[in-house]
Amino acid sequence: MKIFIDSADIEEIREANSLGVIDGVTTNPSLVAKTGRPFEQALADICAEVDGPVSAEVLSTEAPAMIEEGRRLAALHDNIVVKIPMISEGLKATRVLSSEGIGVNVTLIFQPAQGLLAAKAGAAYLSPFVGRLDDISEDGMAMVGTLLQILSNYDYDAEVLVASIRNPLHFLEAARMGADVATCPLSVINQLTKHPLTDHGLAKFLADWEKVPK
Ligand code: G3P
Repeated sequence: MKIFIDSADIEEIREANSLGVIDGVTTNPSLVAKTGRPFEQALADICAEVDGPVSAEVLSTEAPAMIEEGRRLAALHDNIVVKIPMISEGLKATRVLSSEGIGVNVTLIFQPAQGLLAAKAGAAYLSPFVGRLDDISEDGMAMVGTLLQILSNYDYDAEVLVASIRNPLHFLEAARMGADVATCPLSVINQLTKHPLTDHGLAKFLADWEKVPK
């Protein structure tokens, strides 16, 4: 499973990337707003740091404007993947951009049929939002399971990119189900590295080493 960092903060991205396990980056308008930096500057820094797909979201909501914006974003760097919201206008824009060879990540997917439509429209990535479904007492990971099962019946190129991951169990379940990508905030990536017995074991090794004659 590929691991992306879900952030627009270059310091967070550098920290995660230094672990050597990051394959790409996803951003969204809320994450960009949190950085307080102009969008294109933030994207340039991210693309210089991570050699992998970097999702950048359009803000337009009508297909012609989404297509223009998508083309502009894609021209910024070879690794830019244009993020398009899963609305009817977004499907139209996905079809056009993907036919031009521009990678599209269809975002804000909350039910499997939306994912199937986005795959048909030529999306390279489908982003189901699991945490936000859990927030309203629906089972986000069950929805991902259904989407993966549907896609396995056919032959689409789209990769399932599990988004809105809030905890290590979301990540683990995504890997168990065979999702293609999990995009995680730095906090979750850091949690994934830890186990109390690892810390305890290391402390004991270091303490025991003090008893070795020097
Ligand atoms: O990048 C989109 C997604 O991961 C957002 O997560 O936690 O705001 O639902 P969250």
